[in-house]
Amino acid sequence: MNLPDLLEEKLRDKRDYNTIAFKLNDDVLNKYEGKSFYLKTYGCQMNEHDSENIAALLEKLGFKRIDDYQNADLVLLNTCSVRENAHNKAFGMLGRLKHLKEYNPDLIVGLCGCMAQEVGVVNDILNNYKWVNFVFGTHNLYQLPDILDKAISENKQQIEVYSREGDLIENLPVKRANSYKAFVNIIYGCNKFCTYCIVPYTRGRERSRKKEDILKEIDELVRDGYKEVTILGQNVNAYGKDLYDDYFMGELLEDIAKTNIPRVRFMTSHPWDFTDHMIDVIAKYPNIMPSIHLPVQSGSNKVLKLMGRRYTKEEYLELFDKIKEKIPNCMVSTDIIVGFPGEEEEDFLDTLDVVNHCKYDNAFTFIYSEREGTPACKLKDNVKQEVREERLQRLNEIVNKYFLENNKKLEGKILPVLVEGISSKKNMYFGYSDTNKLVNFTSDVEVKPGDIVDVKITNSKTWSLDGEASK
Ligand code: SAH
Ligand code: SF4
Ligand code: F3S
Repeated sequence: MNLPDLLEEKLRDKRDYNTIAFKLNDDVLNKYEGKSFYLKTYGCQMNEHDSENIAALLEKLGFKRIDDYQNADLVLLNTCSVRENAHNKAFGMLGRLKHLKEYNPDLIVGLCGCMAQEVGVVNDILNNYKWVNFVFGTHNLYQLPDILDKAISENKQQIEVYSREGDLIENLPVKRANSYKAFVNIIYGCNKFCTYCIVPYTRGRERSRKKEDILKEIDELVRDGYKEVTILGQNVNAYGKDLYDDYFMGELLEDIAKTNIPRVRFMTSHPWDFTDHMIDVIAKYPNIMPSIHLPVQSGSNKVLKLMGRRYTKEEYLELFDKIKEKIPNCMVSTDIIVGFPGEEEEDFLDTLDVVNHCKYDNAFTFIYSEREGTPACKLKDNVKQEVREERLQRLNEIVNKYFLENNKKLEGKILPVLVEGISSKKNMYFGYSDTNKLVNFTSDVEVKPGDIVDVKITNSKTWSLDGEASK
């Protein structure tokens, strides 16, 4: 048994790590032929991508994926810790699984992902969820085959969560959710320690993958006909800093653009280390999509400082303006938290001021959620729940207004759209523009998922655009 430890998770000493090629233990290959699994993913793209590895590992063991958890032999929850409601969803699902297990005692239940890295969650599972068969953490996902096999053969709860990141594992099998869009990790972990955020504890220290491994993966995706890669990291802009002296995110982006993958996206950028070189590279290469997620979190310098964000409102706006000026048609989206401890009305008005300046194309807005073990827990939290809710509502009204206003400006324009499929409700095709807008469209000629077609925008809504494929 290995249990998570918050103090260990905080450590950021320079430890060498090796890059190791994954190898499946032959004994478990196809051992569970005929069995089925249901995998539920909560949280961010990082978790979605981890689930693509998990699904592939389970298939190597012989399991077949099904969509109905009530008929599955194995149910695995890949969880998220970022806000309380993510927790609640996972625990709600565990409640349903407990019920199911009363009827089907052979059901195997596992939990992994960020919640598995939390001491409080694991203690809760040890004490109150003894029927959960196995738990593993974000740093030892590659051990899933052995942990699961042990849980089944020994019929004993397995808790294997490493507090510290170990070696970087390459060549994990992957079962991609999509045959034309792919996620590619470039950096794991986060060293920023924004005071509200649990991610640095659940994902460990920043570790960049070797550039050769990243570029090889993308070359293979190009060869396999993929049209879009989204390169992933909690803060992609930190790429290379732990590994190289002269090769960072700008250099990597440029080399990725040169692979000739038709579309490159990246998530997420911390404004603090968004370099001019990155902006130049994005502007230079047409296959790097003009769409940047640039979380601001707050517009108040007082709150930004309490959050440990390392930039001021003025610095953020300067960066924003530079991006807009240098990258034609660039759409910028953001994340905003309201109700952070100490946020007063005037701080909130500063946030609205930033929103009114930036007129974002998309924004994810959240009420602050206290996460156990983070420094913000120690701040005096004096914002009443009804004030938080009211601020969220006011904020949402304003961001929505700009979504619509920006979309209106696209009417009559032609946008390249990567086709995803046909929406059954409207009998129209749908896909995403270069600027990441959802476009529903009609077409006289047949188009298929993975095609990139030019669509003339005929109508705009808050969350989507309508159009016709132009010939
Ligand atoms: N690495 C990404 C963020 C990952 S979490 C980045 O830095 O941009 C995604 C978003 O969740 C954050 O941008 C933040 O807006 C929100 N978030 C994180 N912790 C939160 C908390 N404790 N309460 C409310 N929102 C939070
Ligand atoms: Fe969390 Fe900040 Fe790291 Fe993003 S940069 S994952 S918000 S600590
Ligand atoms: Fe959630 Fe972990 Fe992602 S906390 S947001 S799944 S890194």
